[in-house]
Amino acid sequence: MAIELPALPYDRTALEPHISGDTVDQHHGRHQRGHVDRLNAMAAGTAFAGLELEEIVRKAQGAMAEHAAQAWSTAFYWSCLKPAAAGGGGEPEGALADALAVAFGDVAGFRAQFTATALRGFGAGWIWLLRRDDGRLAIAATPHTVTPLTGSDTPLLACCLWEHAYFLDYRDNREKYLDAFWQLVNWEFAASRLG
Ligand SMILES: [Fe+2]
Repeated sequence: MAIELPALPYDRTALEPHISGDTVDQHHGRHQRGHVDRLNAMAAGTAFAGLELEEIVRKAQGAMAEHAAQAWSTAFYWSCLKPAAAGGGGEPEGALADALAVAFGDVAGFRAQFTATALRGFGAGWIWLLRRDDGRLAIAATPHTVTPLTGSDTPLLACCLWEHAYFLDYRDNREKYLDAFWQLVNWEFAASRLG
């Protein structure tokens, strides 16, 4: 069975004013859909047809792996956001807040380090909050389409740092986009991945 483009977990305008409906349309309807379509076209008739998306990310090589990774990471990214009116943003609680404090001093320290890493000037890519094998939390930036799925870390949170995620709303001002990300971050989702 072909991989399907997952529906957004909220309305296309629900992230406004931080991320516009036009950006969501382009990111979900054009970029993410394009990766899903190209992945399906490449996987058809091969041993990858019928595999789960995560499994294709882990096992494929070359362009198929890149389309699969972008399709998976972008779906993950939508889950990392939550409309501000529905409780996105704010502060994490419980075990996640405790784990962030252990790794980064406090939640503000985590936010500052994640933002600084995202702004460090590399090109298109992703930034992640990860749980390492030993349970420690860590921040990692990955270039282009690289995901943590091909290693042993568990991603808890991701932010897309490709310009298509923010150019319509913030031009090339990645800092303003990161500010928007913090207004929308879905801490409950990250906490649910903590295990
Ligand atoms: Fe993206």
